[in-house]
Amino acid sequence: MLKFDFSGLLKENIGEHGVSLENMKSDTDLMDRYIEEVWQEAPGFTRLPYEDVSYIEEALKPFKEYNFDDVLVLGIGGSALGTIATRDAIKGVYYNGLPKDERDGYPRLWVPDNVDPYYVGKLLHMLNPQKTLVIVISKSGRTAETAAEYLIARKWLEDAGVSLKKHLIFITDPEKGVLRKIGNAEGITMFDIPPDVGGRFSVLTPVGLVPLYMVGVDIKALVDGAKTMAERTKKPFMENPAALIAYTHMYLFKKGKNMAVMFAYSNNLANVADWYRQLWAESLGKRYTLDGREVFTGQTPIKAIGTTDQHSQVQLYNEGPFDKVITFLRVEDFGIDIQIPKDIHEDITDLDYLKGKTLKELILAEQFATYLAITDNGRPAMQVIFPKIDEEHIGQFFFVYEFATALAGKILNINPYDQPGVEAGKNATYALMGREGYEKLAQQIKSRLGEMKVFEL
Ligand code: PA5
Repeated sequence: MLKFDFSGLLKENIGEHGVSLENMKSDTDLMDRYIEEVWQEAPGFTRLPYEDVSYIEEALKPFKEYNFDDVLVLGIGGSALGTIATRDAIKGVYYNGLPKDERDGYPRLWVPDNVDPYYVGKLLHMLNPQKTLVIVISKSGRTAETAAEYLIARKWLEDAGVSLKKHLIFITDPEKGVLRKIGNAEGITMFDIPPDVGGRFSVLTPVGLVPLYMVGVDIKALVDGAKTMAERTKKPFMENPAALIAYTHMYLFKKGKNMAVMFAYSNNLANVADWYRQLWAESLGKRYTLDGREVFTGQTPIKAIGTTDQHSQVQLYNEGPFDKVITFLRVEDFGIDIQIPKDIHEDITDLDYLKGKTLKELILAEQFATYLAITDNGRPAMQVIFPKIDEEHIGQFFFVYEFATALAGKILNINPYDQPGVEAGKNATYALMGREGYEKLAQQIKSRLGEMKVFEL
């Protein structure tokens, strides 16, 4: 079970920049009401931990038998980040570089979530279309990046003369969008993204579960982990980790802590922090409240990696402005450890404190030392403790932050499930790329550019 240590957020421990227990007590009724409201409103993501995912395992049986070397996921944002995070957390950051037998025979998993020509081109050059399964994921079925990559990858498969039914899977809206249309016409295997589950909340739908199952992630354990946490998020405020995360972060946000740093002391968890970054940013960064007031709200999430960023960011965190709340991700069991040799440089005593210790001891000491220094300096910080990194705990992590996001949306009185700012960018791209129906927007962009003062070197 994930453990949460909120001590470093308390005013009683860190002084004026913390949250007082007294404040929490006086807001208990309100928070209990918000918890109840989210469960009653039942946004789509709250249903997912209770769903049976056997149908995914069943439907993927033939694809497993094809013995692919590589699985190539084409998707972006919520259609990519949960898969990347879980691959790295469960399989490890070096997974794609391991020989097949060390991958237990499972294919590699690639998620090129950008249209950088080098990033896409070099990857296709590296892979063999005869041995690659391409999974195209787009809820709307209209995102330019995914659509472009799909067209390129399809041509790549066609040129290799492979069967598209064998080498393609679509994951998209059950009815709408161009992928659904193509899939229906061509008999491509398709999985549905439930319409009431937004992209960034969709890792426990086929969006994450299909590619992850293909590489041997125990998707039932992932969903079970989310269920364990879902039950914890039904508890009253002071026993509810999601509610405490949401409350403390929003309380501190209102007191000027505009940034929320997720400081992962594990490279395998770095992309879990990236997943959180999207969730917190897109869900809470909003212009209007639910009743239409202009507020321009949102707390900026930041990802940091320990110990690496101790030598890059921590000076700022310790002595810079009091504008951050920090969450340390601490791992108790890395599944591997390395002893620092004892019988080396016996004549140099300066290094004796390291000799015979392990890298795990060192990283945990550094994590705790940094947490202590930051809280000693009066900066609010909490710890999320992973007894180990496995499907169960990653599932718990996903759910606790999804539920915390829903509650933070309540506190801010905004809609955490839409993303008008993202849609605006998507529409401008269509206009610039000459898509039919976007001529007026293209004209507006052109005249805006015409009015702009040019200041170039
Ligand atoms: O969370 C979101 O809604 C977005 O980040 C989307 O996931 C992203 O824009 C991709 O959209 P789609 O899955 O429709 O291609």
